[in-house]
Amino acid sequence: MERGVGFEKATEALRHDHRVIEKVLDLLEKLAEGPNEASLATWGKAVDFIQNFADRCHHLKEEKIFFPALEERGIPRQGGPIGMMLMEHEEARGYVKSMAMALAKGGEDPEGVKVTLVENAKLYLRLLRQHILKEDEVLFNMADDVLTLQEQKELLREFEEHETKEIGSGIHEKYLKVAQELERYAA
Ligand SMILES: [Fe+2]
Ligand SMILES: [Fe+2]
Repeated sequence: MERGVGFEKATEALRHDHRVIEKVLDLLEKLAEGPNEASLATWGKAVDFIQNFADRCHHLKEEKIFFPALEERGIPRQGGPIGMMLMEHEEARGYVKSMAMALAKGGEDPEGVKVTLVENAKLYLRLLRQHILKEDEVLFNMADDVLTLQEQKELLREFEEHETKEIGSGIHEKYLKVAQELERYAA
């Protein structure tokens, strides 16, 4: 499916991203709970997806485009839901960075690397599932109340622009395919 096509609202597009991210979170859970026979290459694919799709593509869209639009509409940053979402994005980045650094060490100490991966994956999973729930059930409903349909459509257009300019066109689609591939692994 092409980006933005079929969506009427920015919140619909973000919710759709969440469903894709959740598929990879399910895989990450299998990797973290499993007997740890998974190869570092599979961990690497999951972490790469998280860095590029969940963080650069999705979290940056929220931070640069969606949250500022909500602030303009009177939803507070400090002491409010946006401030909390931003803090959680930062916390998530910390866990992802630890996983990426462990993977970069590679084969010298694969068992030690896996311990770090499992620890950080579990913390990341718990945080991100709660985070997605809060956005889906609270913040996005607030957004649907304060944004007009016209504003929602304008935000969708800005999402498209962000992905093309900052991430490169085709990256979104590439990572949707990676998510499907990883999903097959987890099945
Ligand atoms: Fe978020
Ligand atoms: Fe989100």
